[in-house]
Amino acid sequence: MDASTSILALETSCDETAIAIMRGRELLASEVASQTALHEQYGGVVPEVASRNHLLHAPRLLFSAVKSAGISLAEVDCFAATSGPGLATSLMIGASIAKGLAIASHKPYLAINHLEGHLLSPFFEREGLIEPNVSLIVSGGHTLLVQVSGVNAYRKLGQTVDDAAGEAFDKVAKMLGLAYPGGPEIERRARSGDPARFDFPRSMLDSGDDNFSFSGLKTAVRYTLAKISSPTDQHTIADLCASFQRAVIEVLVRKTIKAALVSALALVTLSGGVSCNAELREGMAAACDQAGLQFLAAPPSLSTDNAAMIAFAAMLRSQNGFSSELTEEIDPNLALA
Ligand code: KG4
Ligand code: ZN
Repeated sequence: MDASTSILALETSCDETAIAIMRGRELLASEVASQTALHEQYGGVVPEVASRNHLLHAPRLLFSAVKSAGISLAEVDCFAATSGPGLATSLMIGASIAKGLAIASHKPYLAINHLEGHLLSPFFEREGLIEPNVSLIVSGGHTLLVQVSGVNAYRKLGQTVDDAAGEAFDKVAKMLGLAYPGGPEIERRARSGDPARFDFPRSMLDSGDDNFSFSGLKTAVRYTLAKISSPTDQHTIADLCASFQRAVIEVLVRKTIKAALVSALALVTLSGGVSCNAELREGMAAACDQAGLQFLAAPPSLSTDNAAMIAFAAMLRSQNGFSSELTEEIDPNLALA
């Protein structure tokens, strides 16, 4: 693998069908087809509906990715796909397509961990090596603190013991009658709200470990909502959003900084869908600055699920001598470390 190697990657771990093409560290194409609207009517992702739609959308995305990248499929040097964690029936679609393309063209196949895609994404626009860092991955399915020494050198420090941070945003938004996904909606309302009006718990802030918990906070919002007389008043909704968001962010920021200081690492990285949140990014940046730490976040366009982060992880893995067998299985519970 050299600087001009091209990789085509598929991401189908949940309800986003995504295909990206990279040449070296240049992103040539990145296509995402979201199924959010489709699953909204069922109140959550329906696995069979998701996999059928991956199969439906993937060929169209493949052709448009190849077209906008300006290369032919025959010029692609390696095919990659997310192999876990995620929904088994969704993972199978992307992995089957990538393996099929690899077999037909006698090119290598690379299986990529979805969480590694998120974890490495802050380095996407940065030249050079993956510097040692403490990484916070915050998405709809995961809240994970990882000590990163380099590519494939990960040590899990802590994780959520119940809901993921994004899941808490989504569930609280649902309670407040806001649209799915809840994160962007809560962030928008929080802008005009008072974050000090409701004193929500900062769970596990002083737990002495690197784990998180968000289900108590979610319950606290539910109780507060039941007690207030005008829960649908727009000011109250905005204050609830701002107070909830502040509670989540304060715990994420303080525990991440503490983990970085204990690990004696000078760099903090942030990724996953929740890292789109401006208050989280700004809060983490300011806290790092104050603690004398460097801070690097994934670009917002690569924070929610996408295939560019999978292509980038595949590129880094192949440059570091890693490969996968065509017999490699998908794993819905694939761990990062
Ligand atoms: O990484 P992602 O696209 O999918 C998973 O791997 O889970 O993350 C999706 C999650 C959702 O829970 C969504 O509500 C949350 O990211 N999210 C946000 C924001 N944008 C997306 N949470 C808070 N603030 C945002 N601006
Ligand atoms: Zn994700």
